[in-house]
Amino acid sequence: MKNILIIGGGAMGSAFTIPCLENNNKVTITEPYNKSFIKDLSSKRKYHSSLKLQLPRKLKFKIFSKNILSEKFDLIVIALSLPGIDFIGRELKDLRIKTPILILTKGLKYDKKNNKIVTIPELLNKKYNVINVSTLKGPCLAKELANKKQTNVVIANKKIKIAKWIGKQISTKYYLTEFSKDIIGIEICSAIKNIYSMIIGAGQSLNTSSGLFQKSVVEMKYLIKYFKGEEKTIYGLAGTGDLYVSAAGGRNSKMGSYLGKGYTFKTAKKKFMYRDTVEGEQLAREIAPFILKKISKKRIPLMLNLLRAIIKNKRLKLT
Ligand SMILES: NC(=O)c1ccc[n+]([C@@H]2O[C@H](COP(=O)([O-])OP(=O)(O)OC[C@H]3O[C@@H](n4cnc5c(N)ncnc54)[C@H](O)[C@@H]3O)[C@@H](O)[C@H]2O)c1
Repeated sequence: MKNILIIGGGAMGSAFTIPCLENNNKVTITEPYNKSFIKDLSSKRKYHSSLKLQLPRKLKFKIFSKNILSEKFDLIVIALSLPGIDFIGRELKDLRIKTPILILTKGLKYDKKNNKIVTIPELLNKKYNVINVSTLKGPCLAKELANKKQTNVVIANKKIKIAKWIGKQISTKYYLTEFSKDIIGIEICSAIKNIYSMIIGAGQSLNTSSGLFQKSVVEMKYLIKYFKGEEKTIYGLAGTGDLYVSAAGGRNSKMGSYLGKGYTFKTAKKKFMYRDTVEGEQLAREIAPFILKKISKKRIPLMLNLLRAIIKNKRLKLT
């Protein structure tokens, strides 16, 4: 039995508690930001308003404070969305925690100072001195995991022993883990699939979307090599695996479908998805300053058209 802390009580952080508890761990969840999740998790019933189910009674909730990070845990899991990464980096900075840290968050950051795209583990390490960071990615809809549907994910760390140790603590019959040393490739794939799922969603027929799927994989392959990940990662769970689930459903492909119908991003957001966070949009705004300047249009025409559609609010071109 291990002592696990999960930071982030949104859909994914809360769903992740379920296999962890089933594996007989002692699990504590904390939520630093969202009042509605704090209300759900601190209530007796533990009904999660986003997952629409009751979380196990054994799950412990603690109010977030910097002190909690220095308590003795065997594993700390970060399940905040991308805008929460700098927040948790600042909280962890210089605490010199040796506990393994596992990142569920998908996304990339633009390092303005060095004009560079960085992965979340790299950002936490270089900017906030956080050590011992692993990542877990793959096709996983939080609601499905919470309902114990079979889910396959990959855990990456250059030290494969650590990834395997984490896998042992969290795997169940329905939550199956694979391992990889290619932390960069896995981070790049799992982030950019949010943009490519918008592109695939923009196809207004299955024929069109399938063609866009194939062209997206070619562009993803180029990008993964550009950022020095391993080419084979594209064919793994964090690559085509995650691209499939995001293109088949979800908010990115829904936004893509409006862009494909000819709406501009601003109009589609205001008219149809006012309250929704579209992760592909967050990522597009983060990486556009780098990608639009540095990478040739010939190599990634779909990505560049999508970035322009969001940043410049232009109609999306798919050819
Ligand atoms: N690795 C996986 O298997 C997997 C699966 C699904 C989702 N995810 C990723 O997990 C992350 C969370 O997804 P979710 O579905 O739980 O989203 P959610 O919207 O349900 O929850 C978002 C979480 O981030 C926090 N947050 C948002 N903005 C913040 C800020 N500015 N400062 C601090 N905290 C902030 C919220 O409080 C909440 O805890 C996303 O990056 C998503 O892509 C990972």
